[in-house]
Amino acid sequence: MEATTTAINIEKAKTSKISQVDFDNLAFGSVFTDHMLICDYKNGSWETPKIIPYGPLSLEPSAKIFHYGQSIFEGMKAYKDEHNDVFLFRPEDNHKRLNISAHRMSIPELPKEYFMDGLRTLITLDKDWIPTQEGSSLYIRPFIFASGKGFHASPAEEYKFIICLAPSGSYFSGKVKVLIEETYSRSANGGVGYAKAGGNYAGQFYPTQLAKKNGYHQVIWTDDHAHENIEEAGAMNIFVRINDVLITAPTSDRILDGITRKSIVEIAKAEGIETEVRNVTVTELVAAAKNGSLKEMFGAGTAAVVSPIATFGFRNTDYDLPEIADSYASRFKKIITDIQLNRSQDPYGWRYKL
Ligand code: PLP
Ligand code: COI
Repeated sequence: MEATTTAINIEKAKTSKISQVDFDNLAFGSVFTDHMLICDYKNGSWETPKIIPYGPLSLEPSAKIFHYGQSIFEGMKAYKDEHNDVFLFRPEDNHKRLNISAHRMSIPELPKEYFMDGLRTLITLDKDWIPTQEGSSLYIRPFIFASGKGFHASPAEEYKFIICLAPSGSYFSGKVKVLIEETYSRSANGGVGYAKAGGNYAGQFYPTQLAKKNGYHQVIWTDDHAHENIEEAGAMNIFVRINDVLITAPTSDRILDGITRKSIVEIAKAEGIETEVRNVTVTELVAAAKNGSLKEMFGAGTAAVVSPIATFGFRNTDYDLPEIADSYASRFKKIITDIQLNRSQDPYGWRYKL
């Protein structure tokens, strides 16, 4: 464990809630550990972070988050191995992306040491909450929002950076069924799609609810212009395997630059899997599904890990994907989770010991 350089004030919870948690039946992100980290931005600088018992916040009703949605977040996980050592996966990339999102949303950037030392101190304190059950982990949610007051539609003067921890099970249970969306758009050129901004998710809820009524779990977004290219899903980047070629869309200002996505592209190259980072059109996808060359589709993300897609819907037709042994999805999932859980070598240098 590296030395912590940031001063962090710690107020410990008087009692722990851990005995109330059923670690064998964890949902995703719905129970929270004993502590949270909170850091205020005031008068042009980030103040000393503090760790306090997890609990409600007190905010001005005019806080700009409520009116103008100035908020960004990250999603990460902590893992524990059999020796009780704790690991993160590429956490510095999450910090970089947080600041890319901050820049786009006119939120002050957060110094790297606040992020890294905050994570290290908080997770070490709540280490016993990291589940070891297969498929479970400690989901980490760092976020920043505008706490400054006023109805003037301009960036707030005050912000809060918070980290909360949630022992979590899988994001999806069972096979994932997705709908290719042609009416609504998640993002547009010049917009905020590449930022992990809260509003990007709120805007997806309505179209996703419509899809859910028809039995789908998530929507696959297409480009806002012609609704032709497969872009990403609500909480995952998308991969397609046609014959033995792995394909994923290039990142752009419409797509989140997923850490799982870029890890898979690197692993695929190392595994000798032919990989193309290029646009995949819906026409190509449907043709491949019809002629049998579409072997796999899967989503990739921190929460979802690698989630095979069983069916995609397009214009009132459902296309089922074949069940294949030794799928790319299962190979990538194993390689990534083995690195995360310290079950294998880490030739890429992605595992980060706390
Ligand atoms: N795309 C969206 C919209 C997401 O919310 C996520 C989740 O973080 C991803 C992709 C995957 O990104 P990552 O692998 O960094 O978690
Ligand atoms: C993540 O994978 O960490 C995400 O942020 C997805 C989230 C919307 C659940």
